[in-house]
Order: sequence, then structure tokens, then C-alpha cells
Amino acid sequence: MKKVKLAVFASGTGSNFVTIAKEVAAGNLDCEISLLVCDKQDAKVLEKAKTFGVSTFVFNPKDYTGKAEFEQEILVKLQEFEIDWLILAGYMRLIGQTLLAAYPSRIVNIHPSLLPAFPGKDAIGQALAYGVKITGVTVHFVDEGMDTGQIIDQEQIRINDGEDRESLQRRIQEIEHRLFPEVIRNLCVKQYVR
Ligand code: GRF
Repeated sequence: MKKVKLAVFASGTGSNFVTIAKEVAAGNLDCEISLLVCDKQDAKVLEKAKTFGVSTFVFNPKDYTGKAEFEQEILVKLQEFEIDWLILAGYMRLIGQTLLAAYPSRIVNIHPSLLPAFPGKDAIGQALAYGVKITGVTVHFVDEGMDTGQIIDQEQIRINDGEDRESLQRRIQEIEHRLFPEVIRNLCVKQYVR
């Protein structure tokens, strides 16, 4: 049977990319990462893609007239690689109509808060500044809004008294690295192959 093909979208460090790639390599996920899409030439995730032998599509948004134009180019790549699912792992842009229309209910994102609390940038900083006692991680389908799509799964974490940002971020990432592969495993089991 044809393997489910993922494209991971990332702009930064890529720890989630690495976790997913390791799970795939260990045979724990019935899919393959066929492509990494990245909007930053110097993102650390690019070195990681190289290590795992994953093809990359890197683009500079400034080279285009707008989102519709660069998403059209991304779409051509996704079709070339016969991608089934778009996995957003620290991709710091809103997905536009071009990709949403091409991949309806096939785009998932991970966010470091219990949505709908603290959407957008720096969710961990927002949670600390607000002083909530519980935060967490959300994996959700992507729609046109900012972290507003249907929630697939969540896990909560209690913020320790006086906990600093570094510690909370580390503990949140531990959850991410468990939760995201679990959700992807379920998506792959459903065999949503195009
Ligand atoms: C993660 O915390 C994820 O929740 C958020 O961006 C971060 C990406 O981290 N959307 P990494 O690049 O996977 O290490």
C-alpha cells in the first residue's frame, strides 16, 4: 500500500521535525516525511532535514508579490511530491487560501498553549504573563484564522510556582514531542492517502 506522505512546514529550530523524523525512522509511524517547507534561509531545521535526508523547499517571502504567489509555488512542490498531509511545526505564517483550498482538513498545527487561550506568537510568554496555573499543548486542524481550527488533541501541564520561561518551555516541548507523533500516528492509521 502507498505510504502516507507528509510535508513538514517549519521556520525555526526543528525539534518537532526531529522527533517526527526519528519516529518515522524507528518504524513507529506508518508514513514518510517527503518534504520540508521552510521560509527562512538560515533556519536550524534545514540542517536537521539534511541529517535525515529529507528534501527541502526553501523560499524567501520577500521574493514574491504576496502569499498567493509563494503558496502557489509551494503547492506545485507538494503536488510533485504527492503530499497527503501538511504538518505545521513552528511555521511562523498564517496559511492562505491557496493551500487551504488544496488541502481541506489536511493541515495540522501544534501550538504551545491550551487553545483557545493564548493564540498567536509567544504563547508560553503570554501564559506566564497572565499568571495562569495550567497551560499545555494543542494539536489542531488549520483554518484561515490564527490558531482557531478544530482541536484534535490537547494535554495540560501545571505551571510550578516561580517557574521560569526556560523550564516551562522545556516541559512543554517534552509534551509536544510525545503528543504530535501520537496525533500523526492516528492520522496515518486513517490512511488519508490522496
Ligand atoms: C513549538 O513550540 C510549537 O508548538 C510552536 O513552535 C515551536 C516550534 O519548535 N508552534 P521547534 O522548532 O519544533 O523546536
